[in-house]
Amino acid sequence: MADETSQARNNARLAILELANMISVPMALNAIVRLKVPDAIWQNGTNTPLSSVQILTLTNPLADPENLQRLLRMLASYNVFEEHIVDTVRKYSLTDVGKTLVTDEDGLSYAPYVLQHHQDALVRAWPMVHEVVVDPSVEPFVKANGISAYGYYGENPEMNELMQKAMSGVSVPFMKAILNGYDGFDGVQRLVDVGGSAGDCLRMILQKHPFVKEGVNFDLPEVVAKAPKIPGVTHVGGDMFKSIPHGDVIFMKWILTTWTDDECKLIMKNSYEALPQGGKLIACEPVLPHESDNSHRTRALLEGDIFVMTIYRAKGKHRTEEEFRELGSSSGFSNFRAIYVDHFYTILEFIK
Ligand SMILES: C[S@@+](CC[C@H](N)C(=O)[O-])C[C@H]1O[C@@H](n2cnc3c(N)ncnc32)[C@H](O)[C@@H]1O
Repeated sequence: MADETSQARNNARLAILELANMISVPMALNAIVRLKVPDAIWQNGTNTPLSSVQILTLTNPLADPENLQRLLRMLASYNVFEEHIVDTVRKYSLTDVGKTLVTDEDGLSYAPYVLQHHQDALVRAWPMVHEVVVDPSVEPFVKANGISAYGYYGENPEMNELMQKAMSGVSVPFMKAILNGYDGFDGVQRLVDVGGSAGDCLRMILQKHPFVKEGVNFDLPEVVAKAPKIPGVTHVGGDMFKSIPHGDVIFMKWILTTWTDDECKLIMKNSYEALPQGGKLIACEPVLPHESDNSHRTRALLEGDIFVMTIYRAKGKHRTEEEFRELGSSSGFSNFRAIYVDHFYTILEFIK
């Protein structure tokens, strides 16, 4: 038997208990978003440390401050809040991580993404992850809800709206980051965003590159029906597995990840058909490192991979650069390059 008094066993017992209780972390995060805590602390940029009593005075005076403090304290250990102990009172301000949950002047933040991921229909799928190993023909989401995730959003206007808000909240800061350093849109006249959701990526590309004469936001009919009017952008409803509108550049962000290799090839072949000779498909996707390690980046990418497998496609996945290169060449593209500017998404260029 192992020596339970050794440091190694002591550390192992601690680590497994931390892992076994890990569900507390995302659920507490979801709770503080639902309770509107980040906006309450932010207070137009003051970010003054507040106690749970002070936070609830602003948001929900009849609620239980002790239980809120328990959530704040645990999330401080994950660097969402900073704890300040003043006399005997615990107060909390937002760290840089916590600030991503604050609603900005355009009504956006990462908070809708947190809410989107913890809706009942998605949470119902998680206890079934083991089943996707035994039988990879049905996604846990489908097992739990009887319909695919995109089908479910399509039938449920509230979920559809939350999904769009979640995508906008994540995509806008990413686009701000890449548009300054990436020159891949130079000289483009007609740009098609496949699976463009509310059209934020196109809006930002057109603002930065006024020479782009026409933007086409292509997504499912029920999604573009809810998309806001954007100058220079036409919203087109359709199915990327059937055909994609033509353009001299096809852009897509966070699309290939959710589909199987065969489905990706179909999307990429349809993109190839929609491009002129020399035209370019620009895909922004999470790209896995070849080797596994315990860095935040690798963890975020591997955790997203399990999310895709559970919710969208049992064989949809996060891929390595080599796997993307292979998908490109088997879809007809002659050149490929990967550009690493963001820690989560990589820009992948496929040239026809
Ligand atoms: C993960 S979201 C990414 C949204 C957006 N590109 C972004 O990154 O903010 C995937 C998008 O693909 C769209 N989509 C799913 N199936 C589609 C299909 N068959 N044809 C066109 N778009 C589709 C969804 O409606 C959704 O907007």
